[in-house]
Amino acid sequence: MAEEISVDKTLSDSEIYENLLPQLISLLNIDEPLISGLSNVTAAFKMAFDKISWVGFYFAKDDTLFLGPFQGKTACTRIKIGTGVCGQSALKQETIIVQNVHEFTGHIACDGGSNSEIVVPIIKNGKTLAVFDLDSYSFSSFNEIDKFYLEKFCVILTDKLNWDNFIIA
Ligand code: SME
Repeated sequence: MAEEISVDKTLSDSEIYENLLPQLISLLNIDEPLISGLSNVTAAFKMAFDKISWVGFYFAKDDTLFLGPFQGKTACTRIKIGTGVCGQSALKQETIIVQNVHEFTGHIACDGGSNSEIVVPIIKNGKTLAVFDLDSYSFSSFNEIDKFYLEKFCVILTDKLNWDNFIIA
């Protein structure tokens, strides 16, 4: 099976999403461990978008988010649900776009170079399973285009990967 993904970085963001997501979705396999699929997702996003400095997942368990597969600098391993951008997205079950993280009350700076961020919750049967977090060293890197494609993609992730037997010990 070919795992290679190719993306023309000279395209617009929406064209990159249109190009990237079908390739990525075809790599996802419900019979493989969740962690394997999500790891490839982070690698593909980091490769496809120069604007992304960090991309990864945090898994929800009880009142805490735990660091999952990611690409970028080392990051905080746990975030209380309700705190930071990730924790608020998990709690409110909505996407949060932050144009300037320094103006977001409670923002958790895992990488001091980060200036903007988008966090998309992954929800199944009303329950927050995880959040998908993308950071950028530039201000205002994420907008409604990112929200549109990332939200659609996160819904697909709930169907195309097996979240049922995934255990955070
Ligand atoms: N900035 C996030 C924390 C996670 S790191 O960006 C990887 C937040 O405020 O929730």
